[in-house]
Amino acid sequence: MTPTKIIIDTDPGVDDALAFLLALASPEIKLEALTSVHGNIGIEKTTRNALAVLELANASHIPVARGCSLPLVSALNTTGDVVHGSSGIGNSKLPEPKSQPIEQHAIDYLIERILAEPNQISVFPIGPLTNVALAIRKEPRIVQALKELVIMGGSIKQGGNASPLAEFNIFADPQAAHIVFHSGIPITLIPLDVTHKCLLTSEDVEKLNKISSPIARFVRDATEVYMDFYRQHEIFDGCALHDPLTLATIIAPELFTFEEHYVDVDISTGISTGNTFADLMKISKKPANMKVAMDVRGRDFINLFLERMETLSRSISE
Ligand code: RIB
Ligand code: CA
Repeated sequence: MTPTKIIIDTDPGVDDALAFLLALASPEIKLEALTSVHGNIGIEKTTRNALAVLELANASHIPVARGCSLPLVSALNTTGDVVHGSSGIGNSKLPEPKSQPIEQHAIDYLIERILAEPNQISVFPIGPLTNVALAIRKEPRIVQALKELVIMGGSIKQGGNASPLAEFNIFADPQAAHIVFHSGIPITLIPLDVTHKCLLTSEDVEKLNKISSPIARFVRDATEVYMDFYRQHEIFDGCALHDPLTLATIIAPELFTFEEHYVDVDISTGISTGNTFADLMKISKKPANMKVAMDVRGRDFINLFLERMETLSRSISE
């Protein structure tokens, strides 16, 4: 089977980093590039972390293009370090990357790659949607050329995690999300409704670390801070693998229950700004603009993730 070509647009971020590792451990996927964006931490660190995690996984051949450092309209969100640590990747101690980002800006890189290979490239935005929104505005032809967007973001039937009503990636740049949601590009949305069912536990991490490998150690060191946050704030025993779950749309789509819905985002700058909602009762009569993951077999996904991490850990030993 021909692997699916993907570019991950990302704000690493602990769970972002785990998504890179899952992509690299999955023969169903060809990770073409990473494009960095502001989000969990500032652009300097998200770009550095992208390079460093690729180096950890012996994947420095994969290009990293540096993207936007600020949202379109909102002020920069600087709350992510509470969840992801001041490094952005928890307590992991990765060496300074030897590689550098490419010269091209992420927006121009996305446009060039998408137009060069029509209907071949899928983009997986797992951070704020600033880069993707500006790429659409700069070159509207990508709307027809992009195969699909698989977005980690939003929440449909449950509350938010950045505000009581808004999920972080959308809350960090609601106007960018509005541009993307109404672009006409084929979208699959992976919201908190399903990612909160995909909890990696400390027992899972300890079992993985029976393998002596820098990969297993990174998973442990990176998730420590992340898990503490969930213990203190979300009453979860573990941490949600928000970003890695997007890749299951390629690796194991049978784990999901999808529904087609009209989904919009509140950009009114009031108390509910960034809130995403689906017209579940079809009241607006507006056509569906995305496929939404409404349910998932969360523990089956975690087991799949752990299997792939074990394989990757064994392939990259001390
Ligand atoms: O709400 C979860 C999302 O926000 C994830 O992408 C996480 O990395 C943060 O960016
Ligand atoms: Ca992210």
